[in-house]
Amino acid sequence: MSTTKVKDAYIENIVNEDDYFPVSFEELEAEAQKKMSVGEYGYVRSGAGGEETLRKNQESFKKFSILPRVLRNVSNVDTSINLFGRTYPHPFLLAPVGMLKLAHEEAELAVSKAAATYNVPFVQSTVSSYSIEDVAEVSGDSPKWFQLYWSNNKEVSFHMVKRAEEAGYEAIVLTVDTVMLGWREEDMKNRFSPLKLGFGKANYEQDSVFLASLENTDQDSIIQGILDNIFHPTLNWDDVAELKERTSLPIILKGILHPEDARLAILSGVDGLIVSNHGGRQLDGVVAAIDALPQVVEEVNGEIPVLFDSGIRRGSDIVKALRLGADAVLIGRPFVYGLAVAGQTGVEKVINNFIQDTKVSIALAGASSIQDLSTIKLVKS
Ligand SMILES: Cc1cc2nc3c(=O)[nH]c(=O)nc-3n(C[C@H](O)[C@H](O)[C@H](O)COP(=O)(O)O)c2cc1C
Repeated sequence: MSTTKVKDAYIENIVNEDDYFPVSFEELEAEAQKKMSVGEYGYVRSGAGGEETLRKNQESFKKFSILPRVLRNVSNVDTSINLFGRTYPHPFLLAPVGMLKLAHEEAELAVSKAAATYNVPFVQSTVSSYSIEDVAEVSGDSPKWFQLYWSNNKEVSFHMVKRAEEAGYEAIVLTVDTVMLGWREEDMKNRFSPLKLGFGKANYEQDSVFLASLENTDQDSIIQGILDNIFHPTLNWDDVAELKERTSLPIILKGILHPEDARLAILSGVDGLIVSNHGGRQLDGVVAAIDALPQVVEEVNGEIPVLFDSGIRRGSDIVKALRLGADAVLIGRPFVYGLAVAGQTGVEKVINNFIQDTKVSIALAGASSIQDLSTIKLVKS
């Protein structure tokens, strides 16, 4: 049971004797910038095009204000959630972020171990710097999901899913908004492609079906093979149906913004959705994810879980997304910056701050659990 007494985490952070670690997102981003090369930092920070959607993702949270309740005895706050038959202690997961070696040598190993410390699900990207099996080995039986980028050679997709299933991953997240890479002006300016540098090759390098499809298996051929596979504009609902048949794990579609796509997803038999615009990194000019959430929630009407990401920076953002009907949220850039600043310890600090901030925010809104948040009003102001 994850009901815990609300302690004064704010005071704990102030009297903490440990080395100072940035608490605010803005300071964390600035510290990470000092640790990374121009190309690496630009890759993580930036959005596509003129970054209209990147900016909107955060700004749109401000349109919703919490109308809190008081005098409700919020000394015990239960932040736990249930998803796909499992209970998790906190209402957030770590979003799939590829090529984490660009932030720290320990990459996904450090992040999955940090997530395991708090029982927060870690969602591993297809294009990660360590493989499905490497991550499973260091993080034991802590909760892990696998994010799938569809491969042109779909047998590679099915094989990666099988590997994830065998390694004990609990769910498959199929990302549907990245059939090709967005128009990333910052990366073009910096002439930076982490995929070409080999930061995202681990899962392919260890995949027998992928390797068998190549004529040569030297490093250049592997990287070219990844580039050939990752551009997959043919992806469609028939592929989703076929994927559903090929695994017993829950399938969650990541990158849904339109309510009609949410309806089609339910009709295709998927188990969950993530309302997301990929942190503003795909099509610039699309709606802020938080503005798309209410209509998707209305369409889904509780039939399957609806998760949310893009723009979550602090606990009050989590309260707003949950109140708008998300069953859980995913955190992206903040943990990557934590990794860049201080490796595994940095990710642990970011996760712990989110845990405390979320608890305080739920309690100060006047709620004692995630379900209880439905009794709190959000007003547009
Ligand atoms: C550097 C970086 C790499 C990412 N790589 C992936 C990926 O491999 N697969 C994926 O589905 N999403 C990827 N995403 C998107 C995240 O899963 C998530 O949707 C996004 O970061 C949420 O927005 P936020 O960072 O503003 O919280 C990436 C995001 C960033 C910042």
